Amino acid sequence: MAGMQEVVDYLRAKGHVQAAKDVVKAFSQPPKKWASAPSTKTLGVETRLVQGHAPQPDPYGAANMPVYVTATFQQASATEFGDFDYTRSGNPTRTALQSAVADAEGCNHCLAFSTGMAALAAVVRLCSSGDEVLLSDDSYGGTYRLLAKGAKEAGVTVKYVAMDGPDGPARLERAFTDRVKLVMVESPTNPMQRVCDLRGLSAVCKKHNALLEVDNTLMSPLLQKPLALGADIVVHSATKFICGHSDTMAGVCCVDDEALFKRLYFVQNAEGTGLAPFDCFLALRGLKTMALRVDRAQQNAIAIASYLRQHKLVTKVYYATSDDHPDRELHLSQATGGGCVVCFTTGDVELSKHVVSATKLFSITVSFGSVHSLISCPCDMSHASIPAEVRASRDFPEDIVRVCVGVEDPRDLVADFEQAFASYRSFSLGGMTITSPI
Ligand SMILES: Cc1ncc(COP(=O)(O)O)c(C=O)c1O
Repeated sequence: MAGMQEVVDYLRAKGHVQAAKDVVKAFSQPPKKWASAPSTKTLGVETRLVQGHAPQPDPYGAANMPVYVTATFQQASATEFGDFDYTRSGNPTRTALQSAVADAEGCNHCLAFSTGMAALAAVVRLCSSGDEVLLSDDSYGGTYRLLAKGAKEAGVTVKYVAMDGPDGPARLERAFTDRVKLVMVESPTNPMQRVCDLRGLSAVCKKHNALLEVDNTLMSPLLQKPLALGADIVVHSATKFICGHSDTMAGVCCVDDEALFKRLYFVQNAEGTGLAPFDCFLALRGLKTMALRVDRAQQNAIAIASYLRQHKLVTKVYYATSDDHPDRELHLSQATGGGCVVCFTTGDVELSKHVVSATKLFSITVSFGSVHSLISCPCDMSHASIPAEVRASRDFPEDIVRVCVGVEDPRDLVADFEQAFASYRSFSLGGMTITSPI
């Protein structure tokens, strides 16, 4: 596995002197490690993630949580009830996963859903007809679709607020009415990497007695702990870092408050959106390596962001912990790293599409948080459900490329970008600029 020095040597050998310096600087700051939540636990989270999921007691001493593939659980008698009766309502493998995620997120309760969208839909179900939801105007496309169409049909009004930056809380305050029951936000946003002041937003929500939901998917349960910053509900698309291998769909809702947990559990049980036992097993297996994967993917992302920043065909790089990110300090006041998603623009939609298509090691696909690297043009993929005019009104560049960095050898990833950029040319012909792959 390539260490930091090998990456630096590689970048120097390729003439990327500044990128090499950036990587040295990024890696020489001792990592603050994982974001912490109030905890009485003595073992480190890496230890807890790999240990402690085995059932107690188990007749065979299983080292791992078995998959309880059963729809029903027998009762001892007509009047004696066990811990579980029906898998829609509860299953031991799901309970093991929920406890492990709650431990990683540092919260009292977790519910595992069939997908991240099912988890978000359960949160929106907390609202009734006539209520208002304030949604960050830079949200995941699926969340936008859920709110813009689904919630509207249920009589819930949705308003979009630019909640990012130091002025976000003041803008949220101005948008509040008595009908607002729920505020939904992501930080950093994806792909624009806009940072929201979670403490400030939470203070505004508390003042108005509204719930603050934070979609923490981009940060994983390790890099940012929104509940400790004042959020009421944290959602993850567990399809991403928790499962980690692009092979399982799952979502989780994390809360501290008992009454809120019961309301969300009611929705999950009533609508039958709990995660199936085998998927719980896969998510549990993913969790064991989550700390290693997040650490490595983030190191690779720092190297790639540095490389892209000095590239002459790149006009802007978006990464929350880059020196030139306007809200870097705000981000670092509430999270311990930038994660694995790096975005960039080229000033030319054709060039962006060319680079996406020409890379060989990056799968062209939606999603992130997987062991392997992915690349996409969000306007055509993950954010296509946001109409083009809405994207334009939110300064969402059509030429943006999203790179979701995996755990591969960073030298290979940088070299792949080198060849992808190098295979593009642009020339003038009769006053027109013609661009084409070489
Ligand atoms: C930030 C974010 N939230 C929620 C979701 C939805 O999760 P899922 O695809 O697991 O339903 C996604 C999916 O990409 C996402 O990126």
